[in-house]
Amino acid sequence: MKILVALMVAVLVEVVASQCSCNNMKWAKCDGDPCKCSLQFSGVSQTLDCSKLIPKCYLMKAEMYRAKNNLSTRSIGGKPVETAFVDNDGIYDPECESNGKFKAVQCNGTDVCWCVNSAGVRRSDKGDKNIKCEPVETYWVRLELKHKDMPASEDAAKWKTGIENVLLERYKLDKKFVDNVQYDKSGRLIVVDVKKDKGLSEPDLSLMTYYMEKDVKVLPLFVSPQPFEVSVEGNKVSMENILVYYVDEKAPTFTMQRLTGGIIAVIVVVSLIVIGGLLVIFFIARRQKAQYSKAQPREMETMS
Ligand SMILES: *[C@@H]1O[C@H](CO)[C@@H](O)[C@H](O)[C@H]1NC(C)=O
Repeated sequence: MKILVALMVAVLVEVVASQCSCNNMKWAKCDGDPCKCSLQFSGVSQTLDCSKLIPKCYLMKAEMYRAKNNLSTRSIGGKPVETAFVDNDGIYDPECESNGKFKAVQCNGTDVCWCVNSAGVRRSDKGDKNIKCEPVETYWVRLELKHKDMPASEDAAKWKTGIENVLLERYKLDKKFVDNVQYDKSGRLIVVDVKKDKGLSEPDLSLMTYYMEKDVKVLPLFVSPQPFEVSVEGNKVSMENILVYYVDEKAPTFTMQRLTGGIIAVIVVVSLIVIGGLLVIFFIARRQKAQYSKAQPREMETMS
């Protein structure tokens, strides 16, 4: 009952808080009526006057704080959903089906094996040769492209057209699969969501991402040396880096990934209670022992 009340209060606070915000600073936390906003630095929070632009010194302090604490300093990009993941393993020597698809179990020629998705990216913890895996389709990829420092349009719609064109021309990807394109000028960041309906095996999104990663990070796999460029409003913009997030039809089974904030908090609380209990037992036991050893000499006397 108490927990329920606390939850309802939390939801209420959230709703009230969301009605007030700081137009000039997206990282600010705002609360109350009248609405008050503040910005978090290491250990302190600075009250802001959101009717004006925020002093640069505060912004730099906040940026340092966010960088140190691994908070995003950008407005777009990042994981599209909680279950999205990136390829941290890099290359391995894969086993392929006769139609060129990845086998669901991959071992890289060793006794250590893991499950991969249709893009060949690990989606489980590593295990032994007997690991059980089912085929799982990657139905959504998010491409985070950073373009080189050159003049470029700020218009996300123009970027979407440019991206659709280059993905069609270069990788034969139908425009209907380009779901959403966001653009952040200050970060030179283009975030492209390529998505198909769940349950479809075509198109294989890994075709496009592999060619594209090589295009951006190494050298094109095509014979033609034509580089990867996006045409936006007549400017040809080339890319400096790419990061790919994978979203599978079924959530991956990494153990750590399930330990999200709430569960970690529960584990910490439970551990503290257990440690507290053990300490209490320890002290009680010590007191009893102390009483026992006081009684001991008399016992010894009577025995002798
Ligand atoms: C696969 O094996 C190669 C060579 O033994 C190694 O360099 C590579 O890191 C391995 N890849 C993975 C993902 O274990």
